[in-house]
Amino acid sequence: MLPHRVLGVHGPEVSALGLGCMGMSDLYGPADRIESIATIHAALDAGVTLLDTGDFYGMGHNELLIREALRERDQVTISVKFGALRDPDGGWSGYDGRPEAVRNFLAYSLRRLGVDHVDIYRPARLDPNVPIEDTVGAIADMVRAGHVRHIGLSEVGAETIRRAHAVHPIADVQLEYSLLSRGIEDEILPTCRELGIGVTAYGVLSRGLLSGHWSPGRDVAHGDFRGISPRFQGENLDHNLRLVEALRGIAEDRGATVAQVAIAWVAARGEDIVPLVGARRRDRLAEALGALDVTLSEEDLAAIERVVPAGAAAGDRYAAPMMADLDSER
Ligand SMILES: NC(=O)c1ccc[n+]([C@@H]2O[C@H](COP(=O)([O-])OP(=O)(O)OC[C@H]3O[C@@H](n4cnc5c(N)ncnc54)[C@H](OP(=O)(O)O)[C@@H]3O)[C@@H](O)[C@H]2O)c1
Repeated sequence: MLPHRVLGVHGPEVSALGLGCMGMSDLYGPADRIESIATIHAALDAGVTLLDTGDFYGMGHNELLIREALRERDQVTISVKFGALRDPDGGWSGYDGRPEAVRNFLAYSLRRLGVDHVDIYRPARLDPNVPIEDTVGAIADMVRAGHVRHIGLSEVGAETIRRAHAVHPIADVQLEYSLLSRGIEDEILPTCRELGIGVTAYGVLSRGLLSGHWSPGRDVAHGDFRGISPRFQGENLDHNLRLVEALRGIAEDRGATVAQVAIAWVAARGEDIVPLVGARRRDRLAEALGALDVTLSEEDLAAIERVVPAGAAAGDRYAAPMMADLDSER
């Protein structure tokens, strides 16, 4: 079975690779429901024990999909993000981290998932109008009531992490981390390490850009995040794909794929980091799982850093309005 890692001092033990289910319901254009469920089943069969979702991924669709996939399956660790506000057209209208909202979001998630507790519950973003102590305090009440096992955070900066952790032990912080997104290395990652908090790294393939499967001619469906992501546009994309081609040379020399090297690089950054991959097809999942068999030597890591040094990506990781929501970027 797969190797395991523990999410921080206070968190659960999970497989060394988690499956992010977002793209099965939202944000990457149409997904195939049958294939999505087959992908979750294949992940569980392979030994993946961490599934990541958000109540706003497809406005509840993702949680219902996971419920269907998990029917009669062994329990896995389910990580749920909450707080993002949507509208009927799929738009985004801010974040709600008020204590009464926490209880309301959780009640709906428990019902949709068909469970009596959520394993890791986290606000998707910091609500700028609510002190993090209030949001985390409300989740801590839910821990005491037995509705939540562990508390996580997402895309928050060092100060917010410290304030939250002072209220209740934080298991992990979910952060974008990849060869193309290394902003957490200066302050956020050291803070997590100092406090004994794990990191679940998302976007390890930079939303598919770093997968080796992206091409400039690819059709991007309406509503696909990559249609507005700065890194996927024009000259930025050309530049970023040149980095991918340089990485492909290194990967092929090691008998691996670009995606596998990108995932293995994140996994090699520390035992306290668990990469989440957003596979929504079984073939992509199989490729991603293959990363756990790729061991990168010091020479390999140095070669990778030479072709994709920190800060090499062209373009921000989110479009400007979404960047403004990131406490981790302040
Ligand atoms: N906390 C947060 O703010 C936050 C934000 C975003 C995501 N997340 C979580 O992190 C998870 C992963 O993030 P992500 O999906 O954005 O990033 P990702 O894993 O970097 O990108 C996933 C996309 O890459 C493409 N891909 C190509 N080859 C692949 C392979 N071998 N394995 C997996 N994917 C491959 C797929 O696109 P195609 O299927 O289109 O080819 C897939 O949808 C999400 O599902 C979500 O649970 C959290």
